[in-house]
Amino acid sequence: MSTPSSSRRFARISFIALSLLALFPGAAQAIFNPVRSYEGDTFFDRWDFYGNVDNTTWGGWVTKLSLTIWWTVGRVVLDARSGAVWLSRYDSCVLEPESERQLQLQTRPVPKGCNVTYQDRNNATSKKLAFINGAGNAIVKVDNSSVLSPPLAMGDVVNRDSIRLTSLDSYPIGSLIIIDVLHVPFGCSVWPSFWTYGIQEEWPSAGEIDIIEAINQMDHNQIALHTRGGCSQSPPPMGVQAQTGNTIEGDCSTDRGCIVAETKPNSYGAGLNAAGGGVYAVQMALSGIYVWFWSRPDIPQNILQSTATSTMDVTSWGIPTASYPNTTCDMETFFPPQNLVLLTTLCGVWAGVPDIYQSTCKTPTGSCFNDNVLGPASNFDQAYWEIRYIRTFLADDAPPIPPQWATTSSSSPSSTAGSTSPTEGAGSGGSVTGGTGVRPPVANSNSKALRAGGGSLGFGGVGALMMFLLGAMMMLG
Ligand SMILES: *[C@@H]1O[C@H](CO)[C@@H](O)[C@H](O)[C@H]1NC(C)=O
Ligand SMILES: *[C@@H]1O[C@H](CO)[C@@H](O)[C@H](O)[C@H]1NC(C)=O
Ligand SMILES: *[C@@H]1O[C@H](CO)[C@@H](O)[C@H](O)[C@H]1NC(C)=O
Ligand SMILES: *[C@@H]1O[C@H](CO)[C@@H](O)[C@H](O)[C@H]1NC(C)=O
Ligand SMILES: *[C@@H]1O[C@H](CO)[C@@H](O)[C@H](O)[C@H]1NC(C)=O
Repeated sequence: MSTPSSSRRFARISFIALSLLALFPGAAQAIFNPVRSYEGDTFFDRWDFYGNVDNTTWGGWVTKLSLTIWWTVGRVVLDARSGAVWLSRYDSCVLEPESERQLQLQTRPVPKGCNVTYQDRNNATSKKLAFINGAGNAIVKVDNSSVLSPPLAMGDVVNRDSIRLTSLDSYPIGSLIIIDVLHVPFGCSVWPSFWTYGIQEEWPSAGEIDIIEAINQMDHNQIALHTRGGCSQSPPPMGVQAQTGNTIEGDCSTDRGCIVAETKPNSYGAGLNAAGGGVYAVQMALSGIYVWFWSRPDIPQNILQSTATSTMDVTSWGIPTASYPNTTCDMETFFPPQNLVLLTTLCGVWAGVPDIYQSTCKTPTGSCFNDNVLGPASNFDQAYWEIRYIRTFLADDAPPIPPQWATTSSSSPSSTAGSTSPTEGAGSGGSVTGGTGVRPPVANSNSKALRAGGGSLGFGGVGALMMFLLGAMMMLG
């Protein structure tokens, strides 16, 4: 039996050591101090229930007039408050024929929600769609007790009740977010996600991090970042393993974002839940964004032993599933403080696209909506989150929030750069309802989803209005 020579062995060990050092240059020594634990009886206290109203500064219906022309261009939006005009195609969750020509002067967002109606806090409680169970865990679920009637007329909307939560707090570079789940929704038509996004600018200009996201009968999780142009995932230097997952897409500004597929077993679906769930963590550092997953039996000791007030340390966690180093994505430019979102939607531009749907779901008519949303309510018996906790941390060496992302509004204390408390979400009440109301379209949509982000042009109010109408006329031309 031969053994490697000691010098070769040394070379190998030092190579491994160097590789490990090269992995998390920004994270190596930081101590993460606890910021908040969403857990137990207070789990739901610091979230906004979407409840059909969109309060983001760029999505609010009170101050916007928007013109929807799906035909070629998308949507021209006039923000009466700032005078900004932009072109937007971010609307999602819609399988809208691109040839359809529509002119709509909106005073509120068009309800397009992938066949779900997100409930407000009162309904969520009374309909028992969001509650703390006997074990002290948070349950967030899709309605599995109502039988829905088919639409009576063409164009009628029939939605199943679901929940979309947006955190009142936002988390800057330097944050660490850990979620411990016992059960994640799955099944045909089901599209759960736990993600973050910045509300400072219209999606995706303030970034998005998809931490848990999969559909239908997929057997693995997918991680993704969404940004405007200029951020991509760079391949690691030769010989360095920066992540254990498989990169599916490298450019974060594409429709589906820069996707990394999980390769560890039991990261989604029946397998995940049978194994008792697991833990997902995301670190947002100046050096990059890193996402880990462990199935229940593999959770690191320092996470298992932690309480709501423990500090955290990532150095023993090993190679992440997904690693987005700052070499080709400047974190401070693309990721202002992020709000957390937890939701379950149905069908829509990923789960509901016929060929994608049919690739894992063999149902009688091959229709996501007809075979599930209208079907027996028991189709959704597995469509629930059971969450032990979501904990957030801030590194003791977290950088201050860059000035371009610090809001000037006095009602929003998010310019407390470098403080150890999370930043409050912006919005008139100092909190946020969040989002476009429809999930920005994400990974794997091979439909021609209408979306191109939006460059925002500054104009005076009157100029803006003229541009707006002129643009409208030209496009209808
Ligand atoms: C609350 O539930 C009632 C009864 O189902 C419904 O009419 C109402 O629209 C719901 N509210 C929201 C915000 O969904
Ligand atoms: C279901 O959602 C799709 C978009 O995913 C939409 O086109 C369709 O009209 C919805 N169906 C009903 C009956 O609401
Ligand atoms: C990128 O990360 C490295 C550490 O890997 C750090 O030294 C550098 O300051 C970071 N660059 C920026 C622009 O944040
Ligand atoms: C709904 O799903 C839950 C969780 O799987 C289950 O306990 C319950 O029996 C289901 N059915 C109804 C009608 O709530
Ligand atoms: C969102 O907007 C609605 C309608 O203007 C308002 O009633 C509600 O209080 C706002 N919610 C938050 C959290 O700001």
